Amino acid sequence: GAPVEVDLGKMEPGQLIRVAWRGKPVWVLNRTPEVISTLSTLDSKLADPMSNESVQPEYSKNALRSIKPEIFVAVGLCTHLGCSPTFRPEIAPSDLGPDWKGGFFCPCHGSWFDLAGRVYRGVPAPTNLEVPPYRYVKDTLIIVG
Ligand code: FES
Repeated sequence: GAPVEVDLGKMEPGQLIRVAWRGKPVWVLNRTPEVISTLSTLDSKLADPMSNESVQPEYSKNALRSIKPEIFVAVGLCTHLGCSPTFRPEIAPSDLGPDWKGGFFCPCHGSWFDLAGRVYRGVPAPTNLEVPPYRYVKDTLIIVG
């Protein structure tokens, strides 16, 4: 599949853009400062907070799993059996529970991921969401693939 350009120039804080790459959904999320600070509090609830067991490029092997803190790029397929999780960005108690801190919820068998695609402990998905290869062409443009 051909690489895909994603224009970040018009993204609003908190916005998720969906593109297709190699027949897979790829998500590009603009994370707010609130999201970034919340992510740093979740490690004890996660199965693999530093992503040692998860598929991602070297340059995204950090706590936020990204090249730049604000922009998160992931393959939007659950690492359990491949459903596409739903985007649930609210950092607040919700129908997902009193401790919901924002993330992605897979309705197929109930896996939770945070807004860095990191999987919670005790759910069916074994690893974090995959981060695809991507690079910045300039501040407002990335190429996935
Ligand atoms: Fe997502 Fe099973 S496919 S929890």
